[in-house]
Amino acid sequence: MKVNDAVFVKSAVAPGDYPSQGLPEVAFAGRSNVGKSSVINCLVHRRALAKISSAPGKTRLLNFFVVNSALSLVDLPGYGFAKVPEKVRRSWGPMVETYLERRKELRLVVLLLDARHEPTKQDLQLVEWVHQHRIPSVAVVTKIDKVSRSRRKNQMGTILNSLRGFEGKMIPFSAVTGEGKASLWGEIMRACQEERAEHAGKKVKG
Ligand code: GTP
Ligand code: MG
Repeated sequence: MKVNDAVFVKSAVAPGDYPSQGLPEVAFAGRSNVGKSSVINCLVHRRALAKISSAPGKTRLLNFFVVNSALSLVDLPGYGFAKVPEKVRRSWGPMVETYLERRKELRLVVLLLDARHEPTKQDLQLVEWVHQHRIPSVAVVTKIDKVSRSRRKNQMGTILNSLRGFEGKMIPFSAVTGEGKASLWGEIMRACQEERAEHAGKKVKG
């Protein structure tokens, strides 16, 4: 994917604030500090389009970016970080859930997992929730540069095993080395070229 142009469009909280160009959209979800904003910057070859921080809880709103005037990337606030004030933390769940449930333009959710750890309970809940809502997804196992070559296969296997029922693709990724970038762009382009997924509002029964 040749990125000619990537721009920040706006931050939003509620559906009334979401941008309305109607472009196919890809959202990045995962634990606070897992590296969502870094993956976006890596994909568009920009150091600081999405703001990143070594302190968890940097992204607190839904941030919309547009690439090549053709598709939209959404940086979501992370979950699972206790040091964020309770009131702020409680507003994140509904903000992200409402977006994922209602956004018609949404074609793919990129589920970020940390290569160094087994998925947390909240990671597993998110994967399950996205599956139940029939939202197409891909798992990105990021910070893979921090896992030694010898441990990598085992670690990827452990993560995949813990995601019981996950049927999507799992991509090892590093925002530092750029590993996995071409593969993730491939998934993004494929999802954006498909007809609009008719997942909105439908749940898997049972
Ligand atoms: P919130 O906005 O708080 O939810 O965090 P986030 O998921 O957007 O994480 P962010 O991109 O801000 O990255 C968190 C920290 O992890 C930063 O210090 C990044 O430099 C670091 N980081 C992100 N991706 C990678 C990676 O692939 N490899 C390494 N080594 N560090 C990374
Ligand atoms: Mg962030």
